[in-house]
Amino acid sequence: MSGAGARQAFRRRLLDWYDRNGRDLPWRRATDPYQVLVSEIMLQQTQVDRVLPKYHEWLDRFPSLEALAARPVEEAVQAWYPLGYNIRPRRLHSIAREAVARYNGALPADEETLLSFKGIGQYTAGAIRSFAFGQRAAILDTNVARVLFRVFVGKGDPKAHAARKHLWDVSRALLPRKRVFDFNQALMDFGAIVCPARKPQCASCPMARSCVSYPLDGSIAKLASAAKKRRHARAT
Ligand code: ADE
Repeated sequence: MSGAGARQAFRRRLLDWYDRNGRDLPWRRATDPYQVLVSEIMLQQTQVDRVLPKYHEWLDRFPSLEALAARPVEEAVQAWYPLGYNIRPRRLHSIAREAVARYNGALPADEETLLSFKGIGQYTAGAIRSFAFGQRAAILDTNVARVLFRVFVGKGDPKAHAARKHLWDVSRALLPRKRVFDFNQALMDFGAIVCPARKPQCASCPMARSCVSYPLDGSIAKLASAAKKRRHARAT
């Protein structure tokens, strides 16, 4: 893994970038574990713009785990429309019922217990721990994995099991002592805005100098074609 200096620089640059460019999203003002859970499950497969109206509507209708658990699962599935991937409202509902049955209607804060819920995986557990409970817990979803893979790894298949495990280690090693909440939210925004899967904004990227994949923005292709043109010009 990269050295402590590189990690420190990444932390500082990411938080600086976030302070200037981070999005003001409603779940960033929430520390209620249930609200964090709802937002993260909605955001798993749906873009922020489409989640925003549904997030408010859902919380108005089911303001707590108890309120959700008290309703039939089919009502939750209907209320989820049009987000799709209907396994998600079913999971949310089953988490709510389990939290009411086993934990008095609260979500627990420790990793092992969170992971014992059907529907809470490593990512969601990390999100709940860091966003709702302020713990120093790492996250890794597809977007964060892409950013960390590009900046620190560069070669190979990011989806391979070993790479994924390594990226979790990178995400943990990067966590700052303070501002964990902001750091994890910043990783999300950075992945969405500067380092998306297509058309990464390498020209304005604050990590460019230390990114092992730089440049990814097509300038490699441009350089290659300029070199070809030069060779062609010399030959003719
Ligand atoms: N995608 C997943 N979680 C997110 C969050 N908390 N903010 C923005 N995008 C996200």
